[in-house]
Amino acid sequence: MSRPRKKLSLATIVREFILVRRYRRARDDGRLDFDWSTVNYDRKAVVNLLLADKPDGAYLEIGCADNALFDAVMARRKVGVDPRQGGTHRMTSDAFFAGHANERFDVVFVDGLHLYHQVRRDLDGALGVLNPGGWIAFHDMLPRDWLEEHVPQIRTRGWTGDGWKLAFELLASPDVEFRLLAIDHGVLLVKPLTAKPRIPDLSATLAAERFAYLYRNFALLPVVGYDEAANWIASHRGRPSEDSSDAQA
Ligand SMILES: C[S@@+](CC[C@H](N)C(=O)[O-])C[C@H]1O[C@@H](n2cnc3c(N)ncnc32)[C@H](O)[C@@H]1O
Repeated sequence: MSRPRKKLSLATIVREFILVRRYRRARDDGRLDFDWSTVNYDRKAVVNLLLADKPDGAYLEIGCADNALFDAVMARRKVGVDPRQGGTHRMTSDAFFAGHANERFDVVFVDGLHLYHQVRRDLDGALGVLNPGGWIAFHDMLPRDWLEEHVPQIRTRGWTGDGWKLAFELLASPDVEFRLLAIDHGVLLVKPLTAKPRIPDLSATLAAERFAYLYRNFALLPVVGYDEAANWIASHRGRPSEDSSDAQA
């Protein structure tokens, strides 16, 4: 059953209409056929599953807004970073990672500024504060069409931005495993395999790419449903983390 949605205001509809006209040269007819309202799992389910075997777990959320996720997360310690509202720290993710390099978390959920360069910086920041064996997740990684993806932002509701480009950098890394979960606008889940994963900077190629690139190359990505993701997460439980073997080396 699909959930009821609040109507967009007339001002929002007019604003989107003007922006669609302004940026119509970027239009692309491709569309990824996902209906999020029919999938009965969301980001809250994923984060709580990741923390389920860590009763003393520490959780960091980048971008909290009205705390819809933050308040639903079960963790012993929760830190939320947002320059505008919600969470526990009123600052940008850049400022947080610069000033809290010694803190450690078991799960980091990135849902702040949905721009590729920022998402990439947030990945680097998250890797720096992650406990061995930890997980990093990113929200809004699966735009379904050019309007949901377009930078600058056109869509008011369901805008993902172009953080999806990170998935193509992860594809080129030998030091991480990842899955792109086809739930809730796309949740990208990263499992680092070493203490300092090498993740190439492909911005020279990717910065100018748009939704059409994602659409053309979609089959390259490890896109899975919730059940497959849960099995994959379980397969990592109890595995000696390669982070710690690095530390011993
Ligand atoms: C999509 S909302 C987050 C929703 C929330 N994570 C949830 O699941 O309910 C994005 C939030 O990111 C915040 N944000 C924007 N730029 C940011 C930045 N540079 N660092 C951290 N948060 C940022 C915004 O203020 C906004 O509240």
